[in-house]
Amino acid sequence: MLGISLCAPGAFRDASKMAGMNRQADAFTFILHAARASGARHPFMSPSAAYSRTAIALHWLAGVAIIATFSFGLYMVDLPFSPARIRQYNWHKWAGIAILALSALRLLWRLRHAPPPLPSAMPAWQRRVSHATHHLMYLLFFAVPLAGWAYSSAAGFPVVWFGVLPLPDWVPRDAGLAELLKPVHRGLAYALGALVVLHVAAALKHQFVDRDGLLSRMLPFLSR
Ligand code: HEM
Repeated sequence: MLGISLCAPGAFRDASKMAGMNRQADAFTFILHAARASGARHPFMSPSAAYSRTAIALHWLAGVAIIATFSFGLYMVDLPFSPARIRQYNWHKWAGIAILALSALRLLWRLRHAPPPLPSAMPAWQRRVSHATHHLMYLLFFAVPLAGWAYSSAAGFPVVWFGVLPLPDWVPRDAGLAELLKPVHRGLAYALGALVVLHVAAALKHQFVDRDGLLSRMLPFLSR
């Protein structure tokens, strides 16, 4: 009922009268079809087994970009000092800023589009862990690149995105602050890496041990 009253106040009563319906179930079905036909979106009104194509595209784009940028970060810090190393650092920073922009887009999308419900057999503690992991990951999608950007600014290396778009320094140039922000960026990146590992392990467990089809919602070509 909450979904109906939020989406179409008064519509339930009017529809009952209009269609001469006596049973609430008929009026409910009527409203549901009318709302769907008008394109209304509400998690209660549009249950679906799989994610939308946009959600799937944003998920895999972000996943590949984050894993690649993380791995590249680990690789580049051990390179000997050289012009090539500076170029690698720039590519890492540009990719990180692209992830920041993609995360903003993804968060806006996510706020307007509820995900499909979790499998009904999933225990309450797993639901809680799943929600907590997703919230923390979203937080880190922003915190990791912002900390990297702040570190770069404090160290006196302003970011020029893909060599074209100069980005503002949002902390002052300060060697002490840079020393502080460097381990912050690294620590947050490692925390994100650990959560990604947990996220992947949980998805694989659901798909191949519990066999509840959780992963197929994000990879529709997989069978349950
Ligand atoms: C989601 C995006 C990002 C991820 C996952 C990520 C991950 C990492 C990782 C794993 C390292 C290696 C840490 C270590 O072992 O010492 C690193 C280093 C670094 N990152 Fe990022 N990073 C991201 C975004 C950014 C951004 C946006 C910037 C700057 C604009 C940046 C600047 C740096 C710099 C300068 C280093 C080298 C630190 C050093 O010299 O030790 N990162 N990053």
